[in-house]
Amino acid sequence: MDTDPHAAPEHAGGPVLPGTDAPLAPGELVLLLDRKGRRYLVELEPGAQWHSHGGLVEHDAIIGSSEGTAIRTSKAMEVLALRPTREDYVLKMRRGAQVVYAKDQAMIVALADVRPGATVIEAGAGSGALTLALLAAVGPTGRVVSFERREDHARIARRNVERFHGQLPDNWDLEVDDVVTGLAGRRAHRVVLDLLEPWSAVAAVTEVLPPGGIVCAYTPGVPQVMRLTDELWASGRFTEVRTSETLVRPWDVDGLAVRPAHRMVAHTAFLTTARRVPAREEGGPARRRRKADTGGTVDWAAGDRARDAAGAPPAGEAREGSRG
Ligand SMILES: C[S@@+](CC[C@H](N)C(=O)[O-])C[C@H]1O[C@@H](n2cnc3c(N)ncnc32)[C@H](O)[C@@H]1O
Repeated sequence: MDTDPHAAPEHAGGPVLPGTDAPLAPGELVLLLDRKGRRYLVELEPGAQWHSHGGLVEHDAIIGSSEGTAIRTSKAMEVLALRPTREDYVLKMRRGAQVVYAKDQAMIVALADVRPGATVIEAGAGSGALTLALLAAVGPTGRVVSFERREDHARIARRNVERFHGQLPDNWDLEVDDVVTGLAGRRAHRVVLDLLEPWSAVAAVTEVLPPGGIVCAYTPGVPQVMRLTDELWASGRFTEVRTSETLVRPWDVDGLAVRPAHRMVAHTAFLTTARRVPAREEGGPARRRRKADTGGTVDWAAGDRARDAAGAPPAGEAREGSRG
């Protein structure tokens, strides 16, 4: 017999998939949208109330209804209740460190070829946004191991992942440790790095990845891309070292007024990917490039010093410490 495509899929305690016939249930997260496009993330609790300047809504009025139901507040304002997508959730969840947004999450999953069943190591976990995308991509048969050296960031990541999934996923390990030392003895199909100094992890990543494995690093600045690329080629253990950035331009579509939106998030970061190869003496390719001969003229810390002198925090630290 055919299965009903709109029925909630069998799941082992994960979030209910948005877009099924399952009614909204107590304990679930819902996104409330008002007419002005404001969005609120609410956890449904029997007997509780949601308050806004536009009046209050009894959670009991939402529980049991289907997604997309319009609910009237005590002041007759209409709000829509929908299950949050992962993108909605990331935009509303608590942050310790700045997060990787959907455009880069999607490209990381694509460029690092993260598939169901894969084991992925990521660092640092930060707020857990990228973790959620990696968990979705590897599926229940895969595994994600996240390293985060800051206890406070790890706590936020754990809470965010647990809240989205309704429980801590069985296939996720969060290690409060420095990835550079913590990788010893690990094996993975993919390594995804979102940290200030990804080049410091290249030697450890080499041991983690089997030949053919992929490393993908998210770095905001050009000097980081240069130094990482240099380190990857110089190791003689990586090939296909490539860098790209992704721009997504939203459009306003309203009747005949159809045009690019006035604002867009332009630069977030560069993505650098590389494939692991055996060393030359183990049958791998000849080194394509030696470490760049900069003649000592490249001062990697110059940008940071200039920022310090101007009284601003280093770019990476500002990003890691900022709160949304
Ligand atoms: C920008 S945040 C990562 C954000 C995360 N990708 C997300 O989407 O929420 C960078 C994190 O890397 C952590 N970090 C930096 N160097 C690290 C290292 N060597 N080992 C483990 N974590 C590190 C920082 O503490 C910070 O929380």
